[in-house]
Amino acid sequence: MSGDRLLNACRGQPVDVTPVWFMRQAGRYLPEYRAIREHHSILEICHDPTLAAEVSLQPVTRFEPDAAIVFADILLPFEPWGLGLSFHPGEGPVLDHPIRTADHVEGLRVLDPHTDLGFVLETVRLVSQELGHRVPVIGFAGAPFTLASYAIEGGASRQFIETKRFMYGQPEAWHALLSTLAATVGQFLAAQAKAGAQVLQLFDSWVGCLAPSDYRRFVLPHSRQALTLAAAAGTPTIHFGTCTATLLDAMADAGADVISVDWRIPLDRAWRHFPDRAIQGNLDPAALLAPAPELRTQVHDVLARAARRPGHIFNLGHGVLPQTSPDHVRATIDLVREYRP
Ligand code: CP3
Repeated sequence: MSGDRLLNACRGQPVDVTPVWFMRQAGRYLPEYRAIREHHSILEICHDPTLAAEVSLQPVTRFEPDAAIVFADILLPFEPWGLGLSFHPGEGPVLDHPIRTADHVEGLRVLDPHTDLGFVLETVRLVSQELGHRVPVIGFAGAPFTLASYAIEGGASRQFIETKRFMYGQPEAWHALLSTLAATVGQFLAAQAKAGAQVLQLFDSWVGCLAPSDYRRFVLPHSRQALTLAAAAGTPTIHFGTCTATLLDAMADAGADVISVDWRIPLDRAWRHFPDRAIQGNLDPAALLAPAPELRTQVHDVLARAARRPGHIFNLGHGVLPQTSPDHVRATIDLVREYRP
């Protein structure tokens, strides 16, 4: 692992070896994470900076990836908003008070990262202190669309029916909600940078459910606003989404330094949409469940498509699956580092 690889790649500068880290690199596939989860809920870990820092460092100690990601969750802003956030095993997040009305939106305030989410900033500080300049710490937040989808649906969704009903049926309230979210997460990201995060990632996990024209009308201005606020101090930004093959031109217009793509589009084809930016991705997380020769073929395919062009960050196209063997995470990092075209 080297402290500069990720930062250089974000800026499209050459690196000795392609930087590699994994979304959800801290989590249930790690026995040392499960050991802590036996005694603490996910929200307890997030609210305890010492514990959250320990969990953030677990994959760094074990695998030496080229970045640490702070342990937190994109849904944490829903607690100070009083939406009644909890996590249910097998079901994912659940909100007791989802947002369905313009009045509810009007009552929401832009959060203050220091008073409302200070525990995350403290975790960022602890992880950065611990790592020094060994590897950068990635701070993150949810993007306005993905957060709005959870806030409106009240939990996970397949078709985003209520979200789209709200977007089309109450466009003014929709834009008010996304604008409050954009200001909240933009300032939260900027505060994480001040606390020591050297790279910032905006997670728009579910935005791929939208038509490109709807993305441009209903989402893009707000994602751009969040990224503009986040990048104010010059910290590089990564913009992540899944199923975004038809949205990449529009996502590039939102202005991040790095666009993170999933496996549903080949990496070289995705990159043609934003040749002036860096790219992150894009191995299918399920490839880590495959036998070693198949895993090797797939890792090599991603690297061959990147063709050593400066500005590639190796990652999965989405988070590490809980069923993954830590040995295959290790093997993937080794394959990236040993790759010779
Ligand atoms: O290493 C890391 O990346 C850990 C930090 C992290 C978590 N959540 C901790 C977590 C990050 C970056 C997130 C982001 C997040 N949270 C996203 C965006 C990324 C993505 O996967 O699309 C989303 C959509 C969420 C919302 C969320 N949090 C869901 C849907 C769930 C339940 C589903 C699941 O994977 O279990 C969570 C809970 C959660 N957040 C877990 C972790 C490690 C698993 C909970 C557990 O330990 O039981």
